[in-house]
Amino acid sequence: MFKCPSFECKKCPRLLEFRAQNQLKFPQYHNGPVESFGDLNAEVLIVGLAPGLNGANQTNRPFTNDYAGDILYPALKKYGFAAGNYGKVKNDGFKLKNVRVSNAVRCVPPQNKVTADEIAACRPYLQAEIAAMPNLRIILSLGSVSHGAVLQALGYKKSAYKFAHGAEHKLDKHGMILLDSYHTSRYNINTNVLTAEMFDKIIARLKDLLKQ
Ligand code: URA
Repeated sequence: MFKCPSFECKKCPRLLEFRAQNQLKFPQYHNGPVESFGDLNAEVLIVGLAPGLNGANQTNRPFTNDYAGDILYPALKKYGFAAGNYGKVKNDGFKLKNVRVSNAVRCVPPQNKVTADEIAACRPYLQAEIAAMPNLRIILSLGSVSHGAVLQALGYKKSAYKFAHGAEHKLDKHGMILLDSYHTSRYNINTNVLTAEMFDKIIARLKDLLKQ
């Protein structure tokens, strides 16, 4: 049975220190490893980077109350991968359909930047999560850090699978597809690296791939 990392996880000194600071500053926040969202029986796993300070780190649900969720969740709903109203809180009743959402690193990092050591420390959780999804067919990576973390978690060479927005990588050993998208971050949206329309196309493609 897959278990998300608990507060007992003490692998990342920098993230533990940040967690302690945040606990003092924002005692009402979750301030711990963020649980994944959605059913383990889903065919799709969406992997982000790491929780945002005032978003997932507050709500204990990935992308929830994060700007990136304002792009991600409406797009999922538009293409039938979610139902209900996304209310930016964990108990909003919003439900994912055939999709699970997680992160490469499960604790909030300072300045939204994770280190290679933190990705490596969190890797066993991603590996266990993937192994616990019996119907998994497509992993959608949001951003190149997630792309690299997924490849490494599954034992593929990063150099053999170049990250590109919209790229579809066949992971032959696993019979899965790794689909890449730019991250839905505020920075990417504000700089027009990614638009809501571009992201809609990714989710539309995800839907088509599931029909194949
Ligand atoms: N960005 C991410 O990559 N993950 C979250 O959970 C929130 C914001």
